[in-house]
Amino acid sequence: MSNIPAHELEPTIDHWFAQGSAAIGHDDAIGAFNRLLQLLEAGSVRAASPDLTSPTAWRVNAWVKRGILLGFRLGALADMSGVHHLGQAALSFVDKQTYPIRRFTPEQGIRIVPGGSSVRSGAYLARGVVMMPPAYVNAGAYVDEGTMIDSHALVGSCAQIGKRVHLSAAAQIGGVLEPVNASPVIIEDDCLIGGNTGVYEGTIVRSRAVLAAGVILTRGTPVYDLTDGSILKATAETPLIIPPGAVVVAGSRAITTGAGKHLGLSVYTPIIVKYRDEKTDLSTTLEDLLR
Ligand SMILES: CC(C)(COP(=O)(O)OP(=O)(O)OC[C@H]1O[C@@H](n2cnc3c(N)ncnc32)[C@H](O)[C@@H]1OP(=O)(O)O)[C@@H](O)C(=O)NCCC(=O)NCCS
Repeated sequence: MSNIPAHELEPTIDHWFAQGSAAIGHDDAIGAFNRLLQLLEAGSVRAASPDLTSPTAWRVNAWVKRGILLGFRLGALADMSGVHHLGQAALSFVDKQTYPIRRFTPEQGIRIVPGGSSVRSGAYLARGVVMMPPAYVNAGAYVDEGTMIDSHALVGSCAQIGKRVHLSAAAQIGGVLEPVNASPVIIEDDCLIGGNTGVYEGTIVRSRAVLAAGVILTRGTPVYDLTDGSILKATAETPLIIPPGAVVVAGSRAITTGAGKHLGLSVYTPIIVKYRDEKTDLSTTLEDLLR
């Protein structure tokens, strides 16, 4: 493991990233990448950090994403099925002998990422985080204290998840690596992200906000705030931002022009029906018992 001091890591990562494929096979490049993983896993380096001087209150550390991409460039396919822990196979399965698991080799050029629930290298999980299987936390993600990641939830690469967040079953939090996105999705403290939700493309969900089941948010999704009639949208400079305490439900709105109007169609639209109140707290307290 390289001992590059944290403050020298950014230029070192950028140096090796700029080398392109010429970095492959260089021990110093691998050393810098492994050091980045170490600092990401310790939570001391993050893909985005709180920064009150920035318009969104978050600063994106773009070099961290470059470092994570560097790791993909430097890595070769390897057989990872024999991963062991304390002298025993890390995972144990029992099933009908007539249906054994298919085996794959690196030569087949297929990647089967290990585990039913996996936390990939370079992700940070704070104490008290609970993960229900199957769930996946990708490289560079940061998940803070007391957060629950429920079954079939995805925490995409570099996503930043705050304290005491509930990512409900099948919540999908997009990553920055595919497709190419500049800023990670950020979910601030004490949010409830309901079942089957999707938060993508650098959207920021401010603290205590509630996304009801089925809400999907992307850069291109306008959000209608019924409390004051405003329409929230991403701009060229800022992502879509859900305000603190907003309660967002999945709605629809009529198409008012052209063929859509003629055919009587409507499109999906997230709607802020209110800001969090005692009733919302009641609706969302149940999961405290699960923690
Ligand atoms: C959003 C939620 C928390 C309810 O919050 P609440 O503060 O109790 O909401 P209220 O019941 O006061 O409803 C406020 C308004 O929004 C509407 N509303 C509430 N939930 C809604 C939903 N999911 N979809 C559409 N409209 C909804 C209500 O009808 C009400 O409208 P009205 O005033 O016109 O009657 C709840 O609907 C929800 O989605 N919970 C998450 C469930 C989940 O995913 N669990 C995962 C477990 S793994």
